[in-house]
Amino acid sequence: MEGRIDTRILDDIRSRIRLSDLIGNDVKLARYGTEFRGLSPFQDENTPSFTVNDTKGFWHCFSSKKHGDHFQWLQDYKGMAFRDAVKALADVARIALPEPTAVSTGRLPCRAAASAACAAAASYWRGQLSAQVEGRAARDYLAGRGLDQAEVSALGLGWAPHSSRGLFEALRKKGVGRKAMSDAGLLSLVHDGAGFFRERIIFPITDQRGTVIGFGGRRIGVGTGDGPKYLNSRETVLFKKREALYGLDVAMPAAARRGRIIVVEGYTDRIAMARAGFAETIAVQGSTVDFAVLRRLLPKVAQRVILFDGDRAGKAAYDRMIDHALLDAAPGCVTKFANLTTGEDPDSYLKGHGSAEMETIIAGAIGLEEALWRRTIARCGGDLGPEGRSAVVGELIRCADMIVHSETKAWFHTTLASRVVSEFGARRHLREVL
Ligand code: UTP
Ligand code: MN
Repeated sequence: MEGRIDTRILDDIRSRIRLSDLIGNDVKLARYGTEFRGLSPFQDENTPSFTVNDTKGFWHCFSSKKHGDHFQWLQDYKGMAFRDAVKALADVARIALPEPTAVSTGRLPCRAAASAACAAAASYWRGQLSAQVEGRAARDYLAGRGLDQAEVSALGLGWAPHSSRGLFEALRKKGVGRKAMSDAGLLSLVHDGAGFFRERIIFPITDQRGTVIGFGGRRIGVGTGDGPKYLNSRETVLFKKREALYGLDVAMPAAARRGRIIVVEGYTDRIAMARAGFAETIAVQGSTVDFAVLRRLLPKVAQRVILFDGDRAGKAAYDRMIDHALLDAAPGCVTKFANLTTGEDPDSYLKGHGSAEMETIIAGAIGLEEALWRRTIARCGGDLGPEGRSAVVGELIRCADMIVHSETKAWFHTTLASRVVSEFGARRHLREVL
């Protein structure tokens, strides 16, 4: 975050976080007409003189004469610097802040040099995959998973051997220095001087324009001491986990044409989907995705279909996606949730059932309101007695209130209210029957 922060971003952050929610974390507030009131957090007092107004996005403390907005609150109450307050709240609001401007000297990371390092590494690893001896095990593994030569090269897959010496040598020859390698996340932080990716199949991850920004590395050995199945680039000046979408550059034209984008969890799921005719598929990194990023990148895509694994982790991720989708629900921003059979992921499902049945699954995806209803009922443990019903309604209100767009929020309230009445009956007071 160099220079001034765009006021539109600040407005966006303010509009996504209710001020009374933010302050209510630290100060006990009570509703008073259109405002909230509480005891001054800055001075001892017996009569509440501290007010919070959500409509105006402003708080005021009459005792201490302090007042301000969201950011000022964190500055005055938590003693944070303005920039840190913006970063913290942008994180809560799931809004991506602009990158720092690139600086080519000094200690700041340089995007251009890091990008050159990534491109050179990708090229070296591609070469290793086709190397006669070194790449054989990896080639066999990929062939065993049904990837032919043409596909492997179209995807730019590579092989990172055990020793990183060759990589460092190749990068040095291309004029890539140590600092650029480090900025690109190619050096291990734990093993000083070693490469980050070793003995892994390399899946290059590109940005919207097809430039390599990071990598996913899959282990092919079965040993337990080899780290996780997939190792992904750490956060770098180029690679932001929440924003990186595998296959985006290829998926975008298809998504714009078809009016939908399919979001899966795994690299291999994205590959299998594209092969089966669903080119409009992207894979997120570890089930986190910033919906604001999707909306910014895909203004023409009306519908996103979440197609996560039918396992426990996938179901949990699916539930988290419902929260993201609520925050983002707005006209022209529709999220659907497709359900895979338990134990399947898109890759395995396609192998067993083929594209036509996959299309049926996608076409049968449920809307946000239905997904929210089902999640709520499940969360309340299926208890539909009076306590359970009251819990369901409380949770539905909490979730509907997460929607930022006010007209959409109003319609969610309306639709859910009708649903509650049709499923539970209208609430009545016993005295009515006297
Ligand atoms: P999966 O384990 O479902 O991967 O993780 P997959 O795509 O089905 O893998 P294959 O078919 O066994 O090769 C889904 C995604 O979760 C992240 C990766 O982004 C992966 O694509 N992941 C998974 C990790 O980051 N680390 C792991 O150890 C495992
Ligand atoms: Mn999977």
